[in-house]
Amino acid sequence: MTIHIINGPNLNLLGKREPHIYGSQTFEDYFKLMVQKFSDVDLQYFQSNSEGGLLDYIHQIGFSSTGIVLNAGAYTHTSVALADAIAGITSPVIEVHISNVHKREAFRHHSYISPQAAGIIIGMGLNGYDLAVQHIIDQNKRPEKMV
Ligand code: DQA
Repeated sequence: MTIHIINGPNLNLLGKREPHIYGSQTFEDYFKLMVQKFSDVDLQYFQSNSEGGLLDYIHQIGFSSTGIVLNAGAYTHTSVALADAIAGITSPVIEVHISNVHKREAFRHHSYISPQAAGIIIGMGLNGYDLAVQHIIDQNKRPEKMV
């Protein structure tokens, strides 16, 4: 089982960026803990600040990945291209947001990703990534897959 975690723009700044919203842990540190916790699956991490970089990576892994956990950052609210990429691949995508976007500015309430996502986890902090990974694992252990 190979599960891919993809973070979009500005998420490389986790730990430094608006810690009152996103916490004070870097994703690299958090990812190390995830690798230990989910040691029986192959967990891969990719981050890009560029829309093209995200698209290329999704195209590359989107037909073989067991499941993708995607926090597209601000591109969530702007990118038709990312929505089309997710519609075009075969691997299921779980959309994750660290903060509760619905408690924030109105422009964060709309997601181009959500209609294409198998599921959505919002406002659970970094634990949202764990929940998404666990869900993909659980679904793949079941005889009838939902995602
Ligand atoms: C975010 C929410 C987005 O609105 C924002 O642009 C981000 C992070 C989150 O994880 O809460 O960069 O996706």
